[in-house]
Amino acid sequence: MSFVVTIDGPSAAGKSTVAREVAARLGFLYVDTGALYRALALKLGAGGGSVEDAEGIERMLAATRLDLSGSPAEPHVWLDGEDVSGRIRTPEVSELSSRVAALPAVRRWLVRLQRSLSERGPVVGEGRDLGTVVFPDAAVKIYLDADPLTRARRRAAELEGRGIRVPLEQVLEEIDQRDRRDRTRAHSPLRAAEGAVVIESSRLGPGAVVEEVLRVIRAHPGCPPPAGGPRTGSPPPGPSPRSGD
Ligand code: DC
Repeated sequence: MSFVVTIDGPSAAGKSTVAREVAARLGFLYVDTGALYRALALKLGAGGGSVEDAEGIERMLAATRLDLSGSPAEPHVWLDGEDVSGRIRTPEVSELSSRVAALPAVRRWLVRLQRSLSERGPVVGEGRDLGTVVFPDAAVKIYLDADPLTRARRRAAELEGRGIRVPLEQVLEEIDQRDRRDRTRAHSPLRAAEGAVVIESSRLGPGAVVEEVLRVIRAHPGCPPPAGGPRTGSPPPGPSPRSGD
């Protein structure tokens, strides 16, 4: 297995910002696992499918190609050959993705895909269960947290930056619901992995969190030497693991 850094935590804790910067600084591959769940939610929603229909979900997975490419500064998500990087960021997809993420068949399918992505080189991955389930032997595990109001403010600002205005109370409520679903689901619930370094970022700027994460990674004896520059992901999308591979 390559050198893997996992950054888990609740939604809008700052994982993406931190993971992308850390991956860019170290020249590691950036793996946004939430984007994979979002892409499957997009496909399910667009096809009029339901999370209740287990057979339909299995059929959908068997007919899905999903891949990541690009750099930490400009990551891309490919769903069945189409770049869906923008379309997976709507509040509707956010909501459906936490339901899709509770399905064991989806999680199993994505565990295989996430592990195969880590074969491309040293990785900084962000998600909910990377340190606990996907990469239990990861070299470095981080759990990034912040209080709900801070996270709601960050998410509202991020949405506004993309031209989507949502009242803070509504964002807070959505975050609350998704947290509850992510933390209480039977399969791979969100929690800090054993041995994870926990960083509470409510009173820290992203720069301070990045420096702390870099310090922890560089202190690991297996940390690869710096590469020439930020790694790109994969070549343009080709075949990706399918259910049953
Ligand atoms: O990080 P995000 O908001 O893009 O994640 C979207 C949803 O996917 C979120 O509700 C939790 C789920 N998720 C998960 O269950 N496990 C992961 N490793 C990543 C995301």
